[in-house]
Amino acid sequence: MAADVWLTGLVENNCRASASSMKILFLTHSFNSLAQRLFVELTRGGHEVSVEFDINDAVTIQAVEIYQPALIIAPFLKRAIPETIWRRQLCFIVHPGIVGDRGPSALDWAVMRDYQQWGVTVLQANGEMDAGDIWASELFLMRLTKKSSLYRHEVVEAAVESVLVAVTHFQSGNFKPMPLDYTRPDVLGRRHEQIRQKDRAIDWRKDNTRTILRKIHAADGFPGVLDILYGEQYYLFDACVEEALRGDPPGEIIAKRNGAICRATVDGAIWIGQLKRKTVDNTSFKISAALALRDRLTEVPEIPFDPFSSCRGETYRDVWYERRQDVGYLYFEFYNGAMDTAQCERLREVYLTVARSSVRVIVLMGGTDFWSNGVHLNHIENATSPADESWRNINAMNDLTRAILTTRDQLTIAALQGNAGAGGVFLSLAADYIYARASIILNPHYKGMGNLYGSEYWTYLLPRRVGENMANTITQKRLPIGAPEAYNLGLIDACFALTQLKFQKKIEQLAKILAASPNYVALLQNKARQREKDEQKKPLAAYRADELRHMQLNFYGFDPSYHVARYHFVHKIPHAWTPLYLARHRHNRRS
Ligand code: COA
Repeated sequence: MAADVWLTGLVENNCRASASSMKILFLTHSFNSLAQRLFVELTRGGHEVSVEFDINDAVTIQAVEIYQPALIIAPFLKRAIPETIWRRQLCFIVHPGIVGDRGPSALDWAVMRDYQQWGVTVLQANGEMDAGDIWASELFLMRLTKKSSLYRHEVVEAAVESVLVAVTHFQSGNFKPMPLDYTRPDVLGRRHEQIRQKDRAIDWRKDNTRTILRKIHAADGFPGVLDILYGEQYYLFDACVEEALRGDPPGEIIAKRNGAICRATVDGAIWIGQLKRKTVDNTSFKISAALALRDRLTEVPEIPFDPFSSCRGETYRDVWYERRQDVGYLYFEFYNGAMDTAQCERLREVYLTVARSSVRVIVLMGGTDFWSNGVHLNHIENATSPADESWRNINAMNDLTRAILTTRDQLTIAALQGNAGAGGVFLSLAADYIYARASIILNPHYKGMGNLYGSEYWTYLLPRRVGENMANTITQKRLPIGAPEAYNLGLIDACFALTQLKFQKKIEQLAKILAASPNYVALLQNKARQREKDEQKKPLAAYRADELRHMQLNFYGFDPSYHVARYHFVHKIPHAWTPLYLARHRHNRRS
């Protein structure tokens, strides 16, 4: 396949036929998971998509003038589109709310108020925020989970459906969008105010565990619930219920586990995985709770969780294992898919124990929101020496990757339920088979992080799947890849358009078939032979050494780009311009 085919959207199957291709401009605050998924879907449909970050009105106006798009879509905006644009040009706003819902914090309120059903609406930009004519909408059932998880799954799916419908309506040329009319019985949404910390505040003496859980979920991943710990203000994230532990008074920290803290409640206890300290200059960022509170927790007992225990009650766990017949399932649910040194080491220990057992197939399940996003940039940023911590973390990732790659006694499957990025994608390529949900997005590149070279044996793993040329295209272009495109490229072995639950069942079925295959021994032998052949051609140690030589320069060399990019990423510094690899309309210009 020619190197650029997947970039131009000419993938051979899974294409949604489009009436005719259009130039579409995304105006977006950032190229987040929703913008990436829409980018992939519209490109697959034959459209040409260019991206402009919402920096200021002048830049936005200039982007529209240069690109002359047929349509503007705003997947994730924090500011209104300038009037000079929406008066002249159709602009679709993707709003994470049901028809009639208006205002910021749409999803936050939906979680707080425990709505059973919510939705996404595509409306036309006009002078009033979220009050434009409606082009399409979709509903979904709510889950009791973090706002960010709802966003990454239900909202993204509903947004894709409704944007594609709205685009089809637009292309038909005769569709009349529905004006917002609150007298209609089917318009159930209402205007709401921005949610404030005082709406989110936890009253530890009154709120029960479920109420606290809901409040923290509604603010996760941003902005968190402001609370006081040891006399200082922190934003709380990453909550889960504890079924067994108890303590008094409510709010007291009664246990810690792998970086999370457990706090007593009036009717039980709740774990909090992540904290962000409130600072006057807003320079702090999320880190694991135990790391944030460090010396304060010396008296708090560490209550370990045995990843091999069969206890399945509600509690905090980030690595756990389940065996069903001849198949072992290894789960690693790390917050935001970020894997710090200790997490990599812990996961590797568990993996090696599983690899010493009699299971015939090991399935790497990853997490539900992310399979993995590589090294933990926040914990690296937080370290006394970020360069040293980067070095430790990448080596721990490499050790884990190597353990999977050199597994001799089992066949391995990476089951990608959620997105994967950077080193996380290459970690998955260490498995013998890679299966993904069709709706996930892969970002198999490091370059966006200040020209980071990357390791995780990617110089071996990527070309062996897609060839040298395509490996070069993928890593240099830095674009997101949808699972069907990844399949067409040979990056993964199959993808399935299934919900998470059905995907897990499908994986179980495939793993069982593999474990019982009459060819099982031959497959293991082939794998060992191939590994030996590859090793003779170039040892894994040599790939690692070559990659780490580059990484050493990234971490310790004169060029600080990686440290600067990481700082910007972790501190969420708004972009000052749109990178050229996204802003294709600026390719021939310097502006
Ligand atoms: N370390 C720490 N945090 C990470 C992370 C990492 N490697 N990757 C993602 N995150 C965090 C983000 O900061 C964000 O945090 P928030 O909860 O405070 O909002 C959250 O995960 C979700 O990330 P976001 O960028 O919003 O998700 P996305 O789906 O839109 O984009 C990626 C996914 C992978 C493209 C993007 O997160 C990314 O570039 N991550 C960095 C990957 C990387 O360079 N790793 C290091 C080299 S191995």
